[in-house]
Amino acid sequence: MQVTVPAGLDRKEAEVYLRLDPARLPKHIAIIMDGNGRWARRRHLPRVAGHRAGVASVRSTVETAARVKIPSLTLYAFSEENWKKRPRSEVDFLMGLLSRYLKQEVPTLNKNNIRLEYIGRQHELPKPVQEKMDWAKEATAKNTGMVLTLALNYSARAELVDAFRSIVNAAALNGGLEHVKIDEDAVSRHLYTRHLPDPDLVIRTSGEMRLSNFLLWQLAYAEIYVTPTLWPEFRGVHLLEGIAEFQKRERRYGGLNHEDTSHPHAAKAVRG
Ligand code: FPP
Repeated sequence: MQVTVPAGLDRKEAEVYLRLDPARLPKHIAIIMDGNGRWARRRHLPRVAGHRAGVASVRSTVETAARVKIPSLTLYAFSEENWKKRPRSEVDFLMGLLSRYLKQEVPTLNKNNIRLEYIGRQHELPKPVQEKMDWAKEATAKNTGMVLTLALNYSARAELVDAFRSIVNAAALNGGLEHVKIDEDAVSRHLYTRHLPDPDLVIRTSGEMRLSNFLLWQLAYAEIYVTPTLWPEFRGVHLLEGIAEFQKRERRYGGLNHEDTSHPHAAKAVRG
């Protein structure tokens, strides 16, 4: 089959893209961006230099994802824990960086038909940052291409708590808990990610093998790809390499793979 390379990919990206099956791209990729501090330390730079360098990685990853037509991309930018455990000066720097990113990036997001969304307890962020976030979301609201979701002040456990509260509140308006159906679909509909399908691929940079309280419900069946590349060095080509690895794996959702089902003594389905 003849594969056409999407416009805008550079030579290295095109090389990896040609190894992909465009019909089996992930529908939603989630990324845990990690390793900014280590990148800076290796260069004898302050930690914040790593965050600043990480913005170019965000830009490259977002553009490549949009060019190859990934429907949804979610980036873990700041966890709820980040606020509590990092020095005030670093948190302030990250806030400034985010505000500048939103201001500068809206024209590019519009050019690439990308719609911006957020997950996390937005109301706890500084007011000027919230205003910038609302402005950028509004400015991209009509775009119909990729949905870029930024996880800001996000915690998966807090999200589940908020979802359960939301279910209980909805029930109170509808005659009480005994009148509402609570199943997996209902929980999904009350999560911050109700606008998204569950991620089929999660990428973590800098070699750490943890989910760090990120999308715990939604990642139940996701493929996990951990790359040693530190976030400031991550580019669109690394995203495509992650997709290539994703396509090598077989996804069973707790069912049987083809070999097992074709065997007369097929084993019982295993989770995964
Ligand atoms: C993790 O590295 C990264 C963060 C906590 C912040 C992520 C922010 C950016 C990539 C830049 C701004 C984001 C946007 C959306 C514009 P770390 O500091 O935990 O690294 P370490 O584990 O090596 O110390």
